[in-house]
Amino acid sequence: MAKAKRESANGRSASSRSDAIALLKADHREVEGWFEQFEKARSASRKRDLAEKICTALKVQTTVEEELFYPAFLEATQEEDLHHEAAIEHDGAKKLIVDIEASGPDDEYFDARVSVLSEMIKHHVHEEEMKDGMFAKARQSDMDLPALGEQMASRKAELMNRMAGRGARSERRSAGAALGTRE
Ligand SMILES: [Fe+2]
Ligand SMILES: [Fe+2]
Repeated sequence: MAKAKRESANGRSASSRSDAIALLKADHREVEGWFEQFEKARSASRKRDLAEKICTALKVQTTVEEELFYPAFLEATQEEDLHHEAAIEHDGAKKLIVDIEASGPDDEYFDARVSVLSEMIKHHVHEEEMKDGMFAKARQSDMDLPALGEQMASRKAELMNRMAGRGARSERRSAGAALGTRE
């Protein structure tokens, strides 16, 4: 009886909310929204804020995919071409993210970098989500998507916390520099 109860509790936690693919799709939609807002943004501070959100989210997403989702996908499906192309697309995006983070809205190439990153991510997300793409093949495989989703959600939270801590430290440093004080 107790066992049956536990199983049904597990069944609930395996709902679409914690499913690995649902989690990744929600993350994709979030970043898409920020890219759209960036296109409409006029002020430098708004652009800086959105670019920071986009870069942080993409670093977390690519890490979670590469550490957990992609290896599980490759093991379950043996789809090397799909997997390797996706990994190489991540590499391209990461290079651009480094450049965006090292520059700012006062750099004349800043908007171009963000807009090219947006195009790259659009293409990449389409490849993941399209018919016969990575997510569709993952659904057809025997991957344990609910369990993987739980692992991914906790890794994501850990990475977000770590990055938020780093952001706060660098803000304190620049506030200190503006006041002529030392941390
Ligand atoms: Fe990806
Ligand atoms: Fe993705």
